[in-house]
Amino acid sequence: QGDPRLKAISEAIRVVPHFPKQGIMFQDITTLLLDHKAFKDTVDIFVDRYRDMGISVVAGVEARGFMFGPSIALAIGAKFVPLRKPKKLPGEVISEAYVLEYGTDRLEMHVGAVQPGERALVIDDLIATGGTLCAAIKLLERVGAEVVECACVIGLPEAKGQCRLNGKPLYILVEPR
Ligand code: PRP
Repeated sequence: QGDPRLKAISEAIRVVPHFPKQGIMFQDITTLLLDHKAFKDTVDIFVDRYRDMGISVVAGVEARGFMFGPSIALAIGAKFVPLRKPKKLPGEVISEAYVLEYGTDRLEMHVGAVQPGERALVIDDLIATGGTLCAAIKLLERVGAEVVECACVIGLPEAKGQCRLNGKPLYILVEPR
């Protein structure tokens, strides 16, 4: 992609070697949030892409999907729905398990937050295996929503293969550094 904003966005993301454990190159988007221009450019690129796609729901994945999703939702005229880790939401929930390197985790969504037929965008900071986004897609599809696309700030080029995402398109801004 030739968008000159992407280089600055990539450079604003701090890479922390061996966090949270040996061998992991952690992609720290908190430094992107500190850089007003890069942060705004990130949100603007998503907003420009999604504003005319008839999206009524932006679903953000805990925790870092919460840092981008609400701004996008407000700008495109959609509602924001948090997809949370277990036992955080007080109302009735539906739940999807997904596999981690060691063990499993779950994402939960409030029943009634999304109606059948709604068009949804799923947002997170980063895709690695795609397991988290797959669980998010399943939650939305279980209530009859149509997942238009998944969007991440950071993703491996291989992630664009999207075979792990139930055939849903994936939009990525930058690759890990
Ligand atoms: C990270 C990241 C994504 C997920 C991607 O979150 O923010 O949500 O992992 O991994 P995957 O594509 O292999 O599923 P993490 O699980 O560390 O949770 P947190 O944001 O609550 O810290």
